[in-house]
Amino acid sequence: MLELARILPLDGSVTTIVPSRLDREIDDLATISAHPAPAVTRVLFSPEDLAARQWLTGLAKDAGFHVRADPAGNLFIRWEGSEPCLPSIATGSHIDAIPNAGKYDGVVGVLGGLEAMRQLKEAGHVPKRSIELILFTAEEPTRFGIGCLGSRLMAGTTSPDEARALRDAEGRSLDELREAAGCRGDLGAVKLSTGAYQAFIELHIEQGPLLESEEIDIGVVEKIAAPSAFRLLLKGSGGHAGAVLMKDRCDAFLAAAEIALLVEKAALESGSPDTVGTTGLVEVRPGAINSIPCDVKMEVDFRDTEREARDKALARIGDGTHAICKRRGIEIDWQVINQDPPALCDPSLVALVESKAAAAGLSHRRMISRAYHDSLFMARVCPVTMIFIPCFKGYSHRPDEFSSPEAIAKGVAVLKACLEELSAR
Ligand code: GLV
Ligand code: MN
Ligand code: MN
Repeated sequence: MLELARILPLDGSVTTIVPSRLDREIDDLATISAHPAPAVTRVLFSPEDLAARQWLTGLAKDAGFHVRADPAGNLFIRWEGSEPCLPSIATGSHIDAIPNAGKYDGVVGVLGGLEAMRQLKEAGHVPKRSIELILFTAEEPTRFGIGCLGSRLMAGTTSPDEARALRDAEGRSLDELREAAGCRGDLGAVKLSTGAYQAFIELHIEQGPLLESEEIDIGVVEKIAAPSAFRLLLKGSGGHAGAVLMKDRCDAFLAAAEIALLVEKAALESGSPDTVGTTGLVEVRPGAINSIPCDVKMEVDFRDTEREARDKALARIGDGTHAICKRRGIEIDWQVINQDPPALCDPSLVALVESKAAAAGLSHRRMISRAYHDSLFMARVCPVTMIFIPCFKGYSHRPDEFSSPEAIAKGVAVLKACLEELSAR
């Protein structure tokens, strides 16, 4: 539980700030984690993820909202409008967290969205259009290697067959895990029908340093960068680290090391300042100090705001990788995990967020989201934008990720004003 924060001004007086319901809930959710505080780890369909979903369902029901899950485990927390057949207004995000993450990524959009709905209800708002808070399944790629699984299925970007073929590190399938989690039904039913939503607005921490350094309250997202990821399985030849001479080796790890440097070079020399490349996962086998690495699995994340710049750099990595492997006698299996286009946000929603921020006396600026979000895929089925709030030094995906209660409250206020207006139209 959140401690009461104490502020000590120079005159020695003490002001005690009582944490809000939302602050307490963010702290409570952070305790449902596979790693001890301050780290948060909540992998899709792990005991922690299931407990967190159950806890959230309880909060939503206590607030008088209806909760349903689709066969992929996406949760829909619905406040029925007076004209329930009209396309709904949606908000939401994710609560799964990569290993050793922080407590705000995704959570601010889910619990902040719930808080915005509760505040509107408590203030007596009667929505004409229904408002839905969506908790997306597996925004993070930790379990199945692909991010935004729930929203990909909702948008039809990933087919049910592609989803069924996914396996986690222990070889378990999505069907096996979702059924064990109580999510039944055909994955084909997850795809949204045309016109299901009138608008989707996701509240999220910036995960970058701009808002904090420029002392701006609200970022209004105009574009979400184009992510891509690929996996390489490299097969060399193992052997005794003492007995095999250097000239006779096919060391799979050395090929991987060269490829990782090529990824860096291709990103640095793409001609676009927005290209970023990360070799975030390398597994070396057999993994013994006196044995030459014969097998490597590596996964590379590669992004840009412009699809063309990214794809040109990816082609360079492809050519270079084949040349490295040929020279080193390494067999290669190149698997594309995803290669998505960027998403443009809806200009009228961008303008709406700006006007609500201005009306609340908050400073704001337009920005690009360099991280991906479920909004990237929701943009394929309805108009979207995102509301960003500052976070400490831009830190994210690490335990010291932090957004202040004041920054979160400002984001919730802007989201609330947008939901109020959109649900009344
Ligand atoms: C989302 O977590 C991302 O990696 O952009
Ligand atoms: Mn994340
Ligand atoms: Mn996120």
